[in-house]
Amino acid sequence: MQVLSAERSSPETLAESDAGQGRAMREEDLKHAQILIVDDEIVNTRLLERTLQRAGFTRIRATTDPREVLSLYRELQPDLVLLDLHMPYLDGFAVMEQLKKEVQQEAYLPFLVLTADIAPEAKEKALRVGAKDFLTKPFDVTEVLLRIMNLLETRFLYLHLENQNQILEERVRERTRNLEAAQQQLLDAEAEKKRFYREVIRAVTRDKLQLVDTDEVPTVGSPTFEVSLEDAAAYALLRNRIQEIAEGAGMNTEHASDLVLATGEAVTNAIKHGVEGRCAVYAVTDHVTVRVSDRGPGIRAESLPASVLIPGYSTAVSLGMGHTLMLQLVDRVWLATGPDGTVVQLESWVHPEAHQETVDLLERW
Ligand SMILES: Nc1ncnc2c1ncn2[C@@H]1O[C@H](COP(=O)(O)OP(=O)(O)OP(=O)(O)O)[C@@H](O)[C@H]1O
Ligand SMILES: [Mg+2]
Repeated sequence: MQVLSAERSSPETLAESDAGQGRAMREEDLKHAQILIVDDEIVNTRLLERTLQRAGFTRIRATTDPREVLSLYRELQPDLVLLDLHMPYLDGFAVMEQLKKEVQQEAYLPFLVLTADIAPEAKEKALRVGAKDFLTKPFDVTEVLLRIMNLLETRFLYLHLENQNQILEERVRERTRNLEAAQQQLLDAEAEKKRFYREVIRAVTRDKLQLVDTDEVPTVGSPTFEVSLEDAAAYALLRNRIQEIAEGAGMNTEHASDLVLATGEAVTNAIKHGVEGRCAVYAVTDHVTVRVSDRGPGIRAESLPASVLIPGYSTAVSLGMGHTLMLQLVDRVWLATGPDGTVVQLESWVHPEAHQETVDLLERW
């Protein structure tokens, strides 16, 4: 390998040091940049090397064989390449093309092209493939150093910018992670609260009120009767139809009327506190089920226990007796409520007396 001199340190630290604190880059820092010189004439590489060494540059490598540039690039990750255009095996254009593929797209690797005399077309082509500036042979020391310093300064400003972008991106990622974790904690706390409420409500109502998720409300085949609560005429029919269906199933008149009254409370809630209410009635062998659903905002988790357990609790200007009455009038209530809506399912035994024995037994126990 025709490498004429070598030294190593980290170029990135330059971008992070002074520029990182927003100060103009000091000349001294630029002198630690890694420079690669590529020229088939050893006289030129020696001359440039000496010029740079005298000016205080500490990390210079040079080669007279352009075929070595790729591996040297990989080894050194230079900050600047001084490149001759006319060379055997691989000319300067080809070298630039080769390195462009290697360099990350957004990275700024400056090529300073060394030429004896350059025709406008060649200059244009060189600029197109990545040349950033030109040095005309024979070299003028002041000009050489001036152009090199300019290009290095730009290179480090780019690196600094990239560094800042990475820091910002990392901060954004970290904030997003923190937000996601906080959100998850809130969700977990909400789920925990819900579990707790469910257990309390079940215990207090002796399993009569089942607080569940919407898909846990038991389904009961197809409805015998169904209405939209936005349709006033159909709603008027509802009371009579439930009474008829319940009595038709064998329920006594009083128990059927209780179911009608309880339905009235659930329906009023769907209309008063929700939107798009619906009511469906199902008659299944030993019980009649009424399902009232709406697409309102649901009962807020924190007011759930009070809303369903405390007689007289209301978030509206009202008596707050709806749930209390429902629990007294029917044999079981399923409630699923959330931000997408509420389902209240009321169940009454056709022959409640057949189930009374179990209740009495439980109460005695
Ligand atoms: N379908 C629903 N959607 C949203 N919130 C509801 C729904 N049903 C009940 N609520 C909430 O639960 C609370 C208690 O309901 P409940 O039926 O016991 O009393 P109320 O409707 O306020 O008064 P009342 O029924 O005596 O007129 C309501 O004040 C309301 O905040
Ligand atoms: Mg009500």
